[in-house]
Amino acid sequence: MLSKADNELLTQVGSGTPMGEVFRRFWLPALLSTELSQPDCPPLRFRLLGEDLVAFRDTNGRVGIIDSACPHRRASLFFGRNEECGLRCVYHGWKFDVDGNCVDMPSEPAESNFKDKVKIKAYPAKEFGGCVWLYMGPQGLQPELPQMEWCRVPDTHRELSRWIQEANYMQGTEGEIDTAHTTYLHKRFDPYSNENPDRRGAETQVYGQRDGAPMLTVQDTDYGFVYGSRRNTGDKDYYWRVTQWMLPVYSITAGPRPGWPQGGRAYVPIDDDHTSVIQYYFSAGDDPITEHERDGLRISPTVEQVKYRMLDGAVLDTWRDIRNADNDYLIDREAQKTLSFTGIATARSQDEMVTDGMGAVADRTKEHLGTTDAAIIRARRLLLTLARDLQEGIEPYPASHGDLYRVRSIHTFSPEPDFGKFLEERREDAIARV
Ligand code: FES
Ligand SMILES: [Fe+2]
Repeated sequence: MLSKADNELLTQVGSGTPMGEVFRRFWLPALLSTELSQPDCPPLRFRLLGEDLVAFRDTNGRVGIIDSACPHRRASLFFGRNEECGLRCVYHGWKFDVDGNCVDMPSEPAESNFKDKVKIKAYPAKEFGGCVWLYMGPQGLQPELPQMEWCRVPDTHRELSRWIQEANYMQGTEGEIDTAHTTYLHKRFDPYSNENPDRRGAETQVYGQRDGAPMLTVQDTDYGFVYGSRRNTGDKDYYWRVTQWMLPVYSITAGPRPGWPQGGRAYVPIDDDHTSVIQYYFSAGDDPITEHERDGLRISPTVEQVKYRMLDGAVLDTWRDIRNADNDYLIDREAQKTLSFTGIATARSQDEMVTDGMGAVADRTKEHLGTTDAAIIRARRLLLTLARDLQEGIEPYPASHGDLYRVRSIHTFSPEPDFGKFLEERREDAIARV
């Protein structure tokens, strides 16, 4: 449970809010590089931390992230012409480069120097790990990119997706570090089979069903925390899943079986009520992700490209699950009796149904947290501490230490009951190779 004040502190991310300032101290993955497929391709509209922005790839291949509204009379630059190293507003022809300079102003007299006085808001952008990253903080404090393994492996070893969720970033984040829910929310009644690609994730399920009350131990780190979930298997070994959680919004969870791609999700706040999720999986071995694995990891075809209209009229170019709140996630009540706990088709939709169904911002003053919520409590505390510290002038440590992010999850069996000792034995397995 949180106080009303702490819940607001945790969830409000607009410019000038304490948590909004924390997020503005980190590079954030905003788009997939493939969304800006080639030089001079159509621009994209998106919103991050409550700010409406347009992204474009210029003639030289550089990515620019600028205010969505033209500084002349606020026309939308999404409709602009992306040509000759700049985005030109089609209302009166003003043109801006990736750094926000006005490089042409044909509607003013040729001798005017007005164009040198006008700039559009532009944020630094970098491409890394198949994503376009954005820094929205103070100029002199540019942080380091988090050196997560999924960003550093070759493209052949990585699978990325992006989609919108209709709730505050923290609800998705909390689902991510809530290993206990997998036993219930994602339960299916049909038997586990190696041959059935739909049951790929079932090994997690097998042990999840044998022990539905995992023992969680959280250990603080410089980048956030690592937690171990220990389940009884009915045998001498425990089933251990170790999850990494990195500030401000990244998880690395183990794959469904030892040796499978691992990965996680970044819950990047669009505004207080919407989240852009970037999902990443990577092969942690020498071999690329196989097509068979890719099929299982890929979020499409259940996620489709949409023009998403916000209540205030802004439009975002994003993806949305075809199962969503508008159609009750296509719940099938018959399937809920015979096939699965929820009657909703995919784990991803099941997750969205519960996290987004809490309302845009969950009322945490009314919850009752149990022992399996230990990691969630920790994540909230860490984020709230960052927000309070920053108000005192203390900068977030991991923002300027990208190498801290070179960590891995673990999925294994071990007779060791103590998480501290287990992790010490497996220390090497929790470190990224690249
Ligand atoms: S509104 Fe963009 S040039 Fe006039
Ligand atoms: Fe889930």
